[in-house]
Amino acid sequence: MEVIICADATEAARLAAGKVARVCRDAGPEPVLGVATGSSPLKLYAELTRLVEAGVLDLSRASAFALDEYVGLPPGHPESYAEVIRRTVTEPLGLDQSRVHTPDGFATDIHAAASAYEAAIRAAGGIDIQILGIGANGHIGFNEPTSSLASRTRIKSLAPRTRADNARFFGSPDEVPLHCLTQGLGTIMDAHALLLIAQGEAKAAAIAAVVEGPLTALVPGSVLQAHQHATVIIDEAAASELRLADYYRWTYANKPAWQRFDGELA
Ligand code: F6R
Repeated sequence: MEVIICADATEAARLAAGKVARVCRDAGPEPVLGVATGSSPLKLYAELTRLVEAGVLDLSRASAFALDEYVGLPPGHPESYAEVIRRTVTEPLGLDQSRVHTPDGFATDIHAAASAYEAAIRAAGGIDIQILGIGANGHIGFNEPTSSLASRTRIKSLAPRTRADNARFFGSPDEVPLHCLTQGLGTIMDAHALLLIAQGEAKAAAIAAVVEGPLTALVPGSVLQAHQHATVIIDEAAASELRLADYYRWTYANKPAWQRFDGELA
């Protein structure tokens, strides 16, 4: 796992955008992005938008797959992830809407919707880079603690902690749905590269558990330890509980130039 500690959230977003741009360049004209909702990747999306507008990054033929969707909201609800992805990813990055997918949490047959989502990812040739945030309880996607490390897209119950954390997007905590449709940990692990981005002290314990704790279903994000190409880009606050922080700083400072991705940010 590659761990990069940045001075602040702005620098973290810049570097993360460089990583995404590098993967897209290597993938050819039709890259497949995995996109997360939530606060963590917003600056990264803004930075990617800047690269697209500057003509440095071409995503006109890119596809995107969201990690998850609530189950129980009416279609078109502003906090449904279909809408959030449209506002924060599809429109600013100028993606072709027909190539942007979210799991169909509104479907009457939720199991069929889960299988269809897996099939759609396969048909696109798999995800080139999956962008991830981390829940304070260690979840990735909405794979809550004790999710199977081999799980595929399926319906899950949201943990009380997650519902409380996400209440800020709704009028009241009771309005946060109880269920979601989420890519499984096995689905996420199939992506060719994983990029986890986190900022702030509230994420420090989860980041330490993901990076340096045991690989355990109790901390779903720790499954990244078993991925060949996982990159974790965090600010100093989110890095504050890492035991080997100095080592991560040292390795990044001494990387060969060709391994760095700030060069993508002309
Ligand atoms: C979002 C998702 C979640 C969030 C996590 C962190 O699609 O799958 O795992 O990434 O809950 O949320 P924020 O970034 O809002 O702290």
